[in-house]
Amino acid sequence: MNLCIIGSGYVGLVSGACFAEVGHHVICVDNDPKKIAMLHAGQIPIYEPGLEDLVKRHVASHRLTFTGSIEEGVDGADVVFIAVPTPPREDGSVDLSYIEKVAREIAGVLKPGQYRVVVDKSTVPVKTGDKVTETIHRYAKPGVEFDVVSNPEFLREGCAVADLMKPDRVVIGSNSDKATNLMRKIYEPFMAPILVTDVNSAELIKHAANSFLALKISYANALSAICDAAGADVEKVVDGIGTDKRIGRHFLNTGLGYGGSCFPKDIAAFIAICEDMGVPFTLLKEVQKINRLQRERFLQKMRDALWILRDKKIAVWGLTFKPDTDDVRSSVAIDIVNDLVREGAHVTAYDPKGMEKAREFKLIPESVKLASSALEAADGAEALVLATEWKEFREVPLEEIKKRLHTPLVFDGRNLFDPEAMQEQGFQYRCIGRPAKENARKKASA
Ligand code: UGA
Repeated sequence: MNLCIIGSGYVGLVSGACFAEVGHHVICVDNDPKKIAMLHAGQIPIYEPGLEDLVKRHVASHRLTFTGSIEEGVDGADVVFIAVPTPPREDGSVDLSYIEKVAREIAGVLKPGQYRVVVDKSTVPVKTGDKVTETIHRYAKPGVEFDVVSNPEFLREGCAVADLMKPDRVVIGSNSDKATNLMRKIYEPFMAPILVTDVNSAELIKHAANSFLALKISYANALSAICDAAGADVEKVVDGIGTDKRIGRHFLNTGLGYGGSCFPKDIAAFIAICEDMGVPFTLLKEVQKINRLQRERFLQKMRDALWILRDKKIAVWGLTFKPDTDDVRSSVAIDIVNDLVREGAHVTAYDPKGMEKAREFKLIPESVKLASSALEAADGAEALVLATEWKEFREVPLEEIKKRLHTPLVFDGRNLFDPEAMQEQGFQYRCIGRPAKENARKKASA
């Protein structure tokens, strides 16, 4: 089929490449001429495992093309996907101005006699489909035929290609059989279960899914606080509950709290949407609170061990919001760096992929030094903070870390290291919801 995707960010570009992979002809549109020029030159503006190879292959197969013109994109496509940003406003509600602008532009180029399906792939509040339909009607020529469909995307950054090629399910929110049949044809090659709903329900599914996942993480993080207080091991507790199939072990990993461009924004948006509709979802406010507290508790652990953070030399490993991405938006690792600088610490950071964007978007102060390797960052530091669980960090030999640090004090915000191995190497090791081994031993012999 001929598909057009408007917006070539994480969702649009990866979806475009994967649709091309299964045989569709895809034209990706973006209003940033720099991005289009890069893509034409075979350069990928984001780091996502497997994406570069896929894009290069399908540019060569001529199944993937790029343009700056919505008219060119919409003209030859049976189905037009909208995958533009829906950023948060100050109060947490969603700014839908990009969606509205694209809807107007699509309306302006639709031709009578050419049926088109307009698909919303961006994460939007329930009832946005109605607004998009109204907008297109308002700005299109009389006699234009179209349907608006909601098709939320569930890919995770860092494994976006794999998630898109093998989705758990595909959700199609459609109020028209004609549109549903075209959507089924697009997704048939992915061999995934397809769930067809009305447009409103599909829109709700996306916010409900992200909120539930955030709730699972906050539940595990709240347990980690109890485990710290009780001297229990949160890893064992979440394994113990997660093996119950009704609960499931996924998304129960404790850490510094969830971050990234989706969960914080989507949970705030869902709270605002529900409030707006007169049915406040107060449970989600608690999810947010636990998430904030998790970072605060971690900083308190640092203060407890180091007493005063001012003028302490601290190494931070990790800046991205999770491993295998270069995305530093709403990253808790970046928040930790800023918290430490605010308290007067001298921070040297290292991240395998996130340093360039952290600097480019000025997310960390100029005073933060960036090292060219994990070990270089650790040189002479009075403490090491592990903020993002990159595999590369697990592979650094512990004796090398110890040699480089001024004081063998490690704060592991992601429970990446083995407490016993850290203890054997002579580290003072602080992590999340797992008892320090020296304490556990003292307690056992008492
Ligand atoms: C999330 C969802 O998982 C996707 O299904 C959804 O499509 C996407 O948002 C979106 O709305 O576009 P993403 O933000 O890329 O995907 O990454 P996740 O792997 O979900 O991680 C989000 C945050 O939760 C990260 O900060 C991660 O460190 C944290 N996390 C995740 C935990 O703290 N514990 C866990 O067990 C899992």
